[in-house]
Amino acid sequence: MQTKNLAAAFTGFSKLGRDERLKALLDMGALEVDDIAYLRSGGLKDMSFADSFIENAIGYLEMPLGIATNFRIDGRDYAIPMAVEETSIIAAASKTARWVRDCGSIATEVRGAHIIGQIQCANVVNWARFQSRLSTQKGHLIALANQEPAASLVRRGGGVNDLEIRAVKRPDGGTMGVVHVLLDPRDAMGANIVNQVCEFLRPHIEECTGESVTMCILSNLVDTKLTFAEVRLTDIDGDLAQRIQEASFFGEEDPYRAATSNKGVLNGIDAVVVATGNDWRAVEAGVHAYAARDGRYRSITRWRVDGRHLVGKLEAPLVVGTVGGVTKLHPTASMCLRMLGVASANELSRVAAAVGLVQNLGALRALTTVGIIEGHMKLHARNLSLGAGARLDEVPVLQRRLEEVLRIRKRISHSNAVELLQEMRSAAAGD
Ligand code: MEV
Repeated sequence: MQTKNLAAAFTGFSKLGRDERLKALLDMGALEVDDIAYLRSGGLKDMSFADSFIENAIGYLEMPLGIATNFRIDGRDYAIPMAVEETSIIAAASKTARWVRDCGSIATEVRGAHIIGQIQCANVVNWARFQSRLSTQKGHLIALANQEPAASLVRRGGGVNDLEIRAVKRPDGGTMGVVHVLLDPRDAMGANIVNQVCEFLRPHIEECTGESVTMCILSNLVDTKLTFAEVRLTDIDGDLAQRIQEASFFGEEDPYRAATSNKGVLNGIDAVVVATGNDWRAVEAGVHAYAARDGRYRSITRWRVDGRHLVGKLEAPLVVGTVGGVTKLHPTASMCLRMLGVASANELSRVAAAVGLVQNLGALRALTTVGIIEGHMKLHARNLSLGAGARLDEVPVLQRRLEEVLRIRKRISHSNAVELLQEMRSAAAGD
């Protein structure tokens, strides 16, 4: 667990070679000797994991795993693992986190404890009876669920705490009855347990209401458990702050921009969620549904100039776990969780929210100043070099030439890389 100040340990981290990075992480206590041996050996190769996770397994898809540096969240320093293939994400997160560290702070919070399971009665025949019987039996149904499928969760301080009855209009004018099971999953993401609780309650609800249950499943729109992050920057350039606020208005009001802005936020969130073995599809679904909660799709972040401060806020359901699923089973995910040193699922969710908000700040700063191409394409020059077929010894020279083209023409492409590589090779051959 990193409770110490990591600022010095992270200075120059991106310039280090991989072995030096591993050593730095070992020295700061983020990794252990066995983790380093595991990473050096190439990570997970044993097919028995794949076979136990999925059907028809044929191998693994290796995703780059890196460390976002410079994050101080709620006064605590973190080495944040991010699994992501997009070139500039970790660089932008680390650079922006450094700016926040120097000029401001990040505060986070989780409000609410419950995830939601849904039990649908597709076409309620007698709504008054459905509602009154469920209301009367609510306490009994909760007790049954807590004695049976949720018993071990109750022992850990969680369990079912409420049932809500909702009426949803059917397309034919009839009424659908939807029971929401509100369950505290503690440090699990909770999908399996809430689905089990819903299935368990199914016959009891049918018996008590006289209605028939059509289906049971969790909801990913978990507006009962929201994660908040706030970034506060002080005394930054006033013009830049105004521009970031303008960019924020754009994402708040225009769904076309909101989709891209939220994609940028999720660049950060997903990378942490994936690295820790969590279900990023569930997080994505929840974030997008929450972004459209008032009928229009909006950005999940907002930035405002407030006197000497630029204040950014993120609010979204980010339901993740530190137990259950593959979090502890996948050796890389469990190593990443250990590296983060989070004490709870809520802490992991808060870290992911902070990374998402900082990622957004980095994107908005670039977009409202130099543009996204400069930083992004500069890093992309290496990928273009490799994509053009450059050997590893040719990459640095080709990369520099591409950066030169980028500086002059403001764009570079695969064909630039191919042409420049041919020129380099012809020159080397003395043509
Ligand atoms: C690219 O992966 C993410 C951005 O498009 C986000 C944004 O536009 O805010 C740069």
